[in-house]
Amino acid sequence: MQINPLSDVLGAEVIGIDVGNLDEVTFDKVHEAFLEHHVLVFRDQNLPPERQVAFAQRFGELDVHIQKDNKHSGHEAIQVLSNKKVNGEYIGSPSAGDAWHSDLSYTDIPTLCTMLYAMEIPEVGGDTEWSNMYRAYDTLSEEMKQRLDGLHARHTFNRFRNPRVEVPEIYKGIGKERYADIAPPDAVHPLVRTHPETGRKALYLSERFTIGIEELEEEEGQALMDELIAHQKQRDFIYRHKWSLHDLTIWDNRCLIHLACGGVPEGQIRHMHRVIVRGDKPY
Ligand code: SIN
Repeated sequence: MQINPLSDVLGAEVIGIDVGNLDEVTFDKVHEAFLEHHVLVFRDQNLPPERQVAFAQRFGELDVHIQKDNKHSGHEAIQVLSNKKVNGEYIGSPSAGDAWHSDLSYTDIPTLCTMLYAMEIPEVGGDTEWSNMYRAYDTLSEEMKQRLDGLHARHTFNRFRNPRVEVPEIYKGIGKERYADIAPPDAVHPLVRTHPETGRKALYLSERFTIGIEELEEEEGQALMDELIAHQKQRDFIYRHKWSLHDLTIWDNRCLIHLACGGVPEGQIRHMHRVIVRGDKPY
């Protein structure tokens, strides 16, 4: 097994292993690399759904996403992200991840890690970016670190309540009230969380899901969020991945935010299988 860093801020590619067939010793090394690099890219993997699910289960209990309409027909833990259409209907979500976020931060028990497997990739577009939230926290001024200490942020799935994000056409059709019905209750988490495995502190908010800061008046909270959101998206903290066919990526949502960059031209297909592993309550 060879582990090659992909940038100096996060990410490493792992060469020479089949993730469907790892002994305990090799898996422990993979897990160590995951904590060190935060995103791992396994090249050339052969992963029918049951093998992807089995590998994900080695990291913990799988979660089932609330968006039921994108589920794989044979495996409810797999979500299909795809711009493919059959009989005029998308067979998966064409726009999942189109604003910076950390998976399921709008629930009490957000995602530990996400695994995304590239089954079909476009020639152009469809990249993914990750930003390092340890780095975002570490580079704040001491004064800002003290200001954030003890603050909590509110996270919601409901796009209609978040002026920082667009509501895609497909959701406009559902209607505001119906959409609010399928959105789970909000979650409130520390604005700075401690990674349960490394003990390091990471900034924990995002444009997509965070809508306010509990302890502050609306105007002051929104101004602070604007400042932190601009800070967390600095190019220096970001690695951008151009997918190769049959790449499997896994990333740590406890210390990263990520973005599906889009830009796939009409007529080209991006088709991915996503699995999420349940984490624990942020503290
Ligand atoms: C996601 O947000 O989980 C999807 C990222 C991507 O499709 O690039």
